Amino acid sequence: MLRLTALPLSLFMLFNAACVAWGGNAPTRVRTAMVVSQSEIASQVGADVMQAGGNAIDAAVATAFAMAVTHPSAGNIGGGGFLVFRPADGEPTAFDFREQAPAAAHPLMWLNEKGEYDYERHHESHQAVGVPGTVAGLHMAWKTAGTLPWKSLVEPAVRLAADGFVVGDGLERSLKEQIPRFEQYPASLAQFTKAGEPYLAGEILKQPELAKTLERIRDQGPAGFYEGETARLLVHAMEANGGLITLADMKAYQAKRRTPLIGSYRGYEVIGMPPPSSGGVGVIEMLNILEGFDLRAAGFGSAANLHRMSEAMRRSFADRAHYLGDPDFNPEMPVASLISKEHAAELRKTIDATQASISTPESFVWPYESVETTHFSVVDADRNAVSLTYTLEYAYGSAIVVPGGGFLLNNEMGDFNAAPGMTTAGGLIGTKPNLALPQKRMLSSMSPTILAKDGELFMVTGSPGGRTIINTVLQTVLNVVDHQMNAQEAVDAGRIHHQWLPSRIQYEGQEFSPDTLAILRKMGHALYPISKQGAAEVIIVNAKTGQLEGGVDRRRPDGGAVGY
Ligand code: DON
Repeated sequence: MLRLTALPLSLFMLFNAACVAWGGNAPTRVRTAMVVSQSEIASQVGADVMQAGGNAIDAAVATAFAMAVTHPSAGNIGGGGFLVFRPADGEPTAFDFREQAPAAAHPLMWLNEKGEYDYERHHESHQAVGVPGTVAGLHMAWKTAGTLPWKSLVEPAVRLAADGFVVGDGLERSLKEQIPRFEQYPASLAQFTKAGEPYLAGEILKQPELAKTLERIRDQGPAGFYEGETARLLVHAMEANGGLITLADMKAYQAKRRTPLIGSYRGYEVIGMPPPSSGGVGVIEMLNILEGFDLRAAGFGSAANLHRMSEAMRRSFADRAHYLGDPDFNPEMPVASLISKEHAAELRKTIDATQASISTPESFVWPYESVETTHFSVVDADRNAVSLTYTLEYAYGSAIVVPGGGFLLNNEMGDFNAAPGMTTAGGLIGTKPNLALPQKRMLSSMSPTILAKDGELFMVTGSPGGRTIINTVLQTVLNVVDHQMNAQEAVDAGRIHHQWLPSRIQYEGQEFSPDTLAILRKMGHALYPISKQGAAEVIIVNAKTGQLEGGVDRRRPDGGAVGY
């Protein structure tokens, strides 16, 4: 086993830290207000709303509706998500608009007549669709803190859907990849291809049926989605295809206001999303563990830090798997204890500085999870901040466009566990907190996060990426707070992921040096290269200049940091 002696390691780490300072890209800098999202067109919509006098919530609502048009793989009205809001004055708050199970859901619903697990039904069917939450959530956030008329926030999305917008490189690629899935559903094929031929970058994509649905939402608010024509179209699609969502399920859906989780990290206040997302618990728990190490001295990308980070991730993901689910169905969840400094101190004690821990796999391995969600960050002139992550689960969700409604349906029911006690080496989980039940919300990893320092807004961050979300968000925070990177450097820097099981460090293959990886291997870590992890969209308030600094994730090509 390799012994890590103080002197050579610290020299190596200093070299590593210096590399970051040489190589960094500048962030996008503006004075007043900014949106950073995976769709530059939608970022522009949000920035325009603020320039017209709207606040961060107004901009977030307009950006989210615009992304339902311009970033259809994850932007949505047929999915759900979470919004963390930190007003410049007053208490932070969170909006939970996670999809929920229809009344007919039950824990055995993913088993066939023979009692065997049915993957298709769980992930790729009309039964995989949860009751969408996005429209209710955006409306609740707007009612709580918006200032401009609702109609003016939905109208830009109506125009983008009716008049069309220019397809970018990223959208061209992702639409092309999805054609085999769209081919199962005529309305999907009609909306996202030219009679079966792929759209090319530079061409105009119009979505007239989506424009009509957005008009109903614009004119009637949530009733334009959860009742009347839109709900009827959705329920008709369900009835014709064995889906479970009824008109009563649609009408019963309510977004929920939740109290954000508050943690601290090296003097920064960390505001995270509570359950039914595991994001806030995960980010705060890992930060608490890592606070006990001098990450700055060890240096970005050092083996010592990658080891500490992956050990913190391993422990936090084990807790996530054991304890977390919808709080309204799991009142006993020990959230306060999981995010306490004491719990972190106990976990930190179990980390050996030179040796990887063993994840005991007797409980379970994780199922496949998609990486198509989307996050955006907004800061306005008064320094109100919104961190919003929402999703359809897989890229393009279920790939089902509601005929006549023009919007994609999620397949979020796939985030529920498979069946009671059904825990297999093949990747199924059967633990109780996250089994399907009527009106229950499935556990999420989405981690919209905001940091403040001395009462002032400091950083807004978040990312897509399934379970990797929590670790991507963690690393944007470490990169800024410990390694003093700017917003763009923090987003660009290489990422790792560990999720307890499988027991390995997943890492962006081009980003870490072979000798660092060799040290990790000697410590007993299994390593697994991937090409890209996440798409973090970050804003930092530079306390010295007062400017907003945006970091847009170039791992996905269509994004943009737009402000003024
Ligand atoms: O809620 C969740 O955690 C997942 N449904 C999110 C899926 C996802 O992030 C795909 N992402 N890029």
